[in-house]
Amino acid sequence: MTRTLITSALPYINGIKHLGNLVGSQLPADLYARYRRARGDEVMFVCATDEHGTPAELAAARAGQAVADYCSEMHEVQADLARRFGLSFDHFGRSSSVHNHRLTQHLAARLGEAGLIEVVEEEQVYSPADGRFLPDRYIEGTCPNCGYDKARGDQCEECTKQLEPTALIEPRSAISGATDLEVRKTRHLFLRQSALRERLDQWIDSKADWPVLTTSIAKKWLHDGDGLRDRGITRDLDWGIPAQFEGAPWEGMAGKVFYVWFDAPIEYISATAEWAEANGKSEKDWKRWWKTDEGAENVRYVQFMGKDNVPFHTLSFPATLMGSGEDWKLVDYIKSFNYLNYDGGQFSTSQGRGVFMDQALEILPADYWRWWLLSHAPENSDSEFTWENFQLSVNKDLADVLGNFVSRVTKFCRSRFGEKVPEGGDCGPEEEALIAALAKRLRAYEAHMDAIEIRKAAGELRAIWVLGNEYLQEAAPWAAFKQDPARAAAIIRLALNLIRLYAVLSAPFIPEASQRILAAMQAEDDGWPEDVAAALRALAPGHGFRVPEVLFAKISDEAREEWQARFAGGRDR
Ligand code: MF3
Ligand code: ZN
Repeated sequence: MTRTLITSALPYINGIKHLGNLVGSQLPADLYARYRRARGDEVMFVCATDEHGTPAELAAARAGQAVADYCSEMHEVQADLARRFGLSFDHFGRSSSVHNHRLTQHLAARLGEAGLIEVVEEEQVYSPADGRFLPDRYIEGTCPNCGYDKARGDQCEECTKQLEPTALIEPRSAISGATDLEVRKTRHLFLRQSALRERLDQWIDSKADWPVLTTSIAKKWLHDGDGLRDRGITRDLDWGIPAQFEGAPWEGMAGKVFYVWFDAPIEYISATAEWAEANGKSEKDWKRWWKTDEGAENVRYVQFMGKDNVPFHTLSFPATLMGSGEDWKLVDYIKSFNYLNYDGGQFSTSQGRGVFMDQALEILPADYWRWWLLSHAPENSDSEFTWENFQLSVNKDLADVLGNFVSRVTKFCRSRFGEKVPEGGDCGPEEEALIAALAKRLRAYEAHMDAIEIRKAAGELRAIWVLGNEYLQEAAPWAAFKQDPARAAAIIRLALNLIRLYAVLSAPFIPEASQRILAAMQAEDDGWPEDVAAALRALAPGHGFRVPEVLFAKISDEAREEWQARFAGGRDR
């Protein structure tokens, strides 16, 4: 059996994600996981909240909560939204878990023992009033470039200029406002990524099938001189994974934690260990996904992420795993995404601009969003959400094409033959032509799904739905019924079976609607169709069904305008 390991980039803990975040990692990963399961693979699909770093500390401070409490609460909120969006994780973990503490420290120790971690002395801003070193983001002051008086030590939000904290005019602590800041010497751990340049280069060169977006970013970082420079992997924060621990091959790191980008990808592995623990499995059960010396050599590992995450997944994380000297499974395929924009601008978490996951579900069921987002995924370039386009796509694809087909067929059957699959009548050349066309499109759909070409796959699925409507239009059972009821029965029998087949094929995109269709047809998803003709005989004469409730309601112009106005301003989140 093919075994597929799938991970989605971990959403930051600091708030509810917007639809642009969703379509850049978790949602396409779910599409692929559902598809691989339907094709009979053994799948392990994990994700987690990314809980460390300054953004988490700052968000907790803003919420007036202890950071651990804030993270627990926000984890539940995100897990609940993920569930309601139908994201079918085998496990949704937390990068702050005990497992991740243990594994992060273990890998760091291995890297240290291999001579790949160095202790480096640096000068850093210290705040006596706060009793701590201040990370860049915790220092505020006036921007030397534009004069904005709330510029942060890493960047000025007003003019976007990247800054060094020492460049700020009248610097102060963002925590206490203290201005008596000093520059003191301190020590940090540096990961000697540059020592692994050759290995990384060869490894990336061996990935001839990766999307251009992924390899071009990886290559740029690898050869940019700057890209693979040795990086500090510790920070002066309280919240995180302690960099000084029992058995650490260094001293003097007390009070420091690992940098969030060091421990976050390790959580992919730890989340699988969390899955094992939560499901009464053993260590062997998770290691067979991750250790090539313990069964993972046959696993195909696919990652999903936005383009800004690519350097960390093509260079830093592989460097961590390779450098450990242990047999960890490296990624086989990286599917990366451009950005989704919102109505003439950008989605913005800080400005609350765009539609966020909770708000989306207040308005419409998940499948409406899933369909639009996936069929417009920003694969080859950035794409844009507009309410007009969303309305058009929902009304046309979901309501007119799929929904209408299901409704016409089931209602016609109920009125002429009752709520069961009718018997009698023969199929002829029209049906043969339909089956041939379906078979061809189904193979194309599979090919696009296999290649994770999401827009193309969505287009093919839509075309498969259209075939049903065209067939119905030509075969015209309502006309046939008058002269030859048996012929009408044959047409409707096929069309009812087509509905069941649509539910199976559409499930990765619109799982909820798919379930509703199957329930109405009193049928099961009994696996991916190998043979279209056979799949269209699954519901035998006499099989009962119900006319389902409206599958997809159309979006009216009034509703669209109301939502457009409601979401234009943004709100403080
Ligand atoms: N939290 C990061 C982001 O949203 C992604 C982390 S992915 C992982 O950009 F690899 F670190 F897990
Ligand atoms: Zn500025």
